[in-house]
Amino acid sequence: MKYAFLLYPHQNIRYRQSLLTLARQELSMTLEALGRGCEVRDCEMGGAPFLIFDAPKLTQRDIRMLSQIASCYVMFTMEDGQMVPVESEHPNYIGEDLPALLKYKGKTNEMFTDTMLTMALAASDFMPVHDSQLIVCDPMAGRGTTAMLALRRGYHGVGVEIAKPEVKEACDYMTRYLEYHRIKHKKTESTLTVRGKAGGRETKFVLSDTAEHFKDGDTRTLRLIQGDTRDAAALLRSQSVHLMVTDIPYGVQKGTAGKQDSIGGTLGAAMPAWHDVLKPGGALALSFNTHVTKRASLEALAQAAGFEVVKTPSLEHWVEQAINRDVLLAKKPNT
Ligand SMILES: C[S@@+](CC[C@H](N)C(=O)[O-])C[C@H]1O[C@@H](n2cnc3c(N)ncnc32)[C@H](O)[C@@H]1O
Repeated sequence: MKYAFLLYPHQNIRYRQSLLTLARQELSMTLEALGRGCEVRDCEMGGAPFLIFDAPKLTQRDIRMLSQIASCYVMFTMEDGQMVPVESEHPNYIGEDLPALLKYKGKTNEMFTDTMLTMALAASDFMPVHDSQLIVCDPMAGRGTTAMLALRRGYHGVGVEIAKPEVKEACDYMTRYLEYHRIKHKKTESTLTVRGKAGGRETKFVLSDTAEHFKDGDTRTLRLIQGDTRDAAALLRSQSVHLMVTDIPYGVQKGTAGKQDSIGGTLGAAMPAWHDVLKPGGALALSFNTHVTKRASLEALAQAAGFEVVKTPSLEHWVEQAINRDVLLAKKPNT
């Protein structure tokens, strides 16, 4: 059977080409993980971008997983020159607009982050795990885009971010969103201990898509933690997270001791902690600016921490003048 997936358009022509590469990889990896590895081609029909592939008739489970492809707008089958829409099987758990409404400088494009999330899921052993059990962590969370995307899909989200104002803004936004949409929830705050001292502050939201589910305890959790990602192993439990998805800083930043610390230095200390926090079979998707961070050094840090680098076609793409982005995918072996 022939399938054609219509992609979301993007106003910026140069970025559109980048999105096509990412979308093709996102779809190929998902099909591969579903045991339906096949060649995915891109083409234009009626002036719109499509990804097309031939595969035996997709099952309902396949459709459900493919409905999560971030860059795909509508799925179609193509028969005798006719295009028939395929009903999406993965409705948003809570508001579609949750990860998109909060705008700020330095925000990662949420569709890109969602694409990384699909790639991490496809690279992990957790594709068959039910949404209600999947835990996604962004260890350098900014204002929580990744954790909110996870929640939108019906997973649990955790974000660790060092900057207090960023965490506060994410928490305030989440509170406003839940109250405005009258989403049943409980919010709690606590202090987390690192090496016997207060080392982090956690705001936890427990919520449900419906009041009935909330009453039955069928809930999802969003944890926003203000703390240092190098302490991730102390802030989060060992082997507690299925996927890690993050966008590392684009430039040089401050270390905790008050002196300038390179991103490499931070990551060198953080990678072993991230490895500890991930479950065996879990995957890490990390995007970086190639003008600042070299792929070879990142791969070396990941491997030194015990990760296996997942081989993909080049995912390097232009974002803006100062940013050329690439994605590293790595897996914690399940041994
Ligand atoms: C590129 S931004 C992430 C943006 C995020 N994806 C978003 O859309 O909001 C990288 C983040 O890493 C944070 N960061 C840097 N060093 C950190 C550390 N040691 N621990 C935790 N977060 C850190 C920065 O404060 C920054 O917010």
